[in-house]
Amino acid sequence: MKYRHTPVMLDEIITYLNCKPGNCYVDCTLGGAGHSRAILEKILPDGLLIGIDQDADAISNATHLLKPYGSNVRLFHENYVHLPNILSQLNILKVDGIIADLGLSLNQIENSGRGFSFQKNEPLDMRMNVASEITAADIVNNESQAQLETIFRDYGEERWARKIAQKIIAVRTVQKISTSQELAKWVCDAIPARAQHQRKKHPATKVFMALRIAVNRELEVLEAFLDDALDLLNPGGRMCFLSFHSLEDRIVKRRFRSWEGNCTCPRDFPECICNNKKSVKILTRKAGRPSDAEVSDNPMARSACLRVAEKL
Ligand SMILES: C[S@@+](CC[C@H](N)C(=O)[O-])C[C@H]1O[C@@H](n2cnc3c(N)ncnc32)[C@H](O)[C@@H]1O
Repeated sequence: MKYRHTPVMLDEIITYLNCKPGNCYVDCTLGGAGHSRAILEKILPDGLLIGIDQDADAISNATHLLKPYGSNVRLFHENYVHLPNILSQLNILKVDGIIADLGLSLNQIENSGRGFSFQKNEPLDMRMNVASEITAADIVNNESQAQLETIFRDYGEERWARKIAQKIIAVRTVQKISTSQELAKWVCDAIPARAQHQRKKHPATKVFMALRIAVNRELEVLEAFLDDALDLLNPGGRMCFLSFHSLEDRIVKRRFRSWEGNCTCPRDFPECICNNKKSVKILTRKAGRPSDAEVSDNPMARSACLRVAEKL
């Protein structure tokens, strides 16, 4: 089956990355390899593209798709948080650019059979890496009411988090919740009809997003990765983060600002002791957004926010 995903903000990202022949770039989130392929075209004949994805389907698709690029590509079925180990395996100290296009590919939503969407009735799994331990069903069937409420409220910004958590606990005393459409049904049952009608999206959208973020520990991984990304860039190297969730975007925005090195010492200190150094130049003062034309061609691009920083 053809791997489905259209790369988002491709031209903008390739321009920002400023790819040069012979240089080395990391695509942390290979997906359908759309960004990777465009980078490769810019770095031939002797550049290197390191592609990472925690989903084995993405790696097997990209292995086939990028075969013509031979030794210009190295692919890793890994979590991008392990980039420092990957580079040390390759005896590479620093790279010239890093891109992370966070979240899910269309292929994962439509073809993975792992219950990422309520449009199909599939096992409630939601793991990007099927070797990882916890599935969405484990969370839904085992976490406490308080923990479920926190996940739905914090990761999904779901206003009816408490009611939904209460409903799940009540259902669980009678039966396990095992599939995507079972969960979607119980979520709909928990949200008052009037509130459901006011929503533009399916009432279970926020709960599904929250569970996916929890299963894949998406925010923790991003938090843990950012300082390594800065450390592993050559001076002049750029990092591009494309997020689709306000919490992810906030994590990137705040870390970029902290790297700008504003002194955090109290005002009445006679001299600076925090030693914050300016280590980046932020190239996107406001997050980059896809054009209207891109969103109408590819609705998945709708909520994309691009932030780019250059290491000094
Ligand atoms: C939005 S898609 C990337 C699409 C890609 N840029 C393209 O052009 O086709 C996100 C991909 O990142 C992968 N992914 C998400 N979080 C990851 C992580 N922590 N480590 C490795 N891969 C991750 C997902 O499995 C998915 O394949």
